[in-house]
Amino acid sequence: MIVTTKELFQHAYGRYAIGAYNINNLEQTVGLFRGNLGKSKSNGDPVDANKSAPFIIQISRGARSYSDKRFLEAMIRTAAEVFPEAVFAVHLDHGTEEVCYDCIDSGFYSSVMIDASHEPFEKNIEITKRVVDRAHAKGVVVEAELGQLGGVEEDVVGSVCLTEPAQAAEFVARTGCDSLAVAIGTSHGAYKFSGAQGIRLDRLAEIQQAVPKNFPLVMHGSSSVPKEWVDRINNAGGALKSASGVDEAQYIQAARLGVCKVNIDTDGRLVWCAIHRESFRDDPANFDLRPPGKAFMEAYAAYIIHKNTKLGSAGQLESVRQLVAK
Ligand code: G3H
Ligand code: 13P
Ligand code: ZN
Repeated sequence: MIVTTKELFQHAYGRYAIGAYNINNLEQTVGLFRGNLGKSKSNGDPVDANKSAPFIIQISRGARSYSDKRFLEAMIRTAAEVFPEAVFAVHLDHGTEEVCYDCIDSGFYSSVMIDASHEPFEKNIEITKRVVDRAHAKGVVVEAELGQLGGVEEDVVGSVCLTEPAQAAEFVARTGCDSLAVAIGTSHGAYKFSGAQGIRLDRLAEIQQAVPKNFPLVMHGSSSVPKEWVDRINNAGGALKSASGVDEAQYIQAARLGVCKVNIDTDGRLVWCAIHRESFRDDPANFDLRPPGKAFMEAYAAYIIHKNTKLGSAGQLESVRQLVAK
């Protein structure tokens, strides 16, 4: 069942975070649905109520143009039939104004992100407000972004890029956006921190105080870049040096401070990379794409279960279903 993120956030606020996972292909889609239903091996396994979770499936502009956006939509529609128990939102990740309109008009997306965070404050407000007005007229919810995600490799994790609490409050009031992605020290990709840095929970707490009560915040760049998967990649011929991510223990801390959506893409790519590298290393005579594909779907589903446990969303599916059924 496709729902808006608004309903999911209402249930999660202050208690746990919903995983927002990017997809590009069939194997990721199947692994994602299985994992969120607590099934690690096959589509036919029973749903595990202690592990099943509501989730957000997100599609980037790059994913839409990788093959053709219609393949992604068709796969998601089919997944909703194959896995009728799933409760999820379909979300455009990092949209431009033009792509947001395409998604809003498609009638398929329940949520879009307008990312005008690279624009000056007033321009970001102007663009976001236009998208909000058009989205709300069609029952679609909008995530916006204020502040800029950094990267230690660029040495930009500092006060200049972090979201300013007072600006966040003004931005939310003037745009009418439904959730706000904030810059609190994370960055996209596999190289987030060079030392012991982590999410700036102090800044997050200030933002939570400044925005309206129970207003949902979003955290991008939230992959944990697990050492286990990086080591597996490197042991199978990869070259990911000094990769590091967000401490998973901080997910729940962030959730208690109003983060309802945690974006994870890189971790899924690491699982994909490790499984495929190991498969080619261990079975060099194989040229059938299905053995690594099958191993990836299982490993990815198991990884999603692990992630949802850390986010606190594992085990929440049934109560969310009751909420949305009302
Ligand atoms: O934030 C970006 C996401 O990881 C999506 O990446 O644009 O390469 O699909 P992509
Ligand atoms: P990661 O690169 O940390 O997975 O972040 C993904 C993201 O923010 C997608 O919007
Ligand atoms: Zn992002």
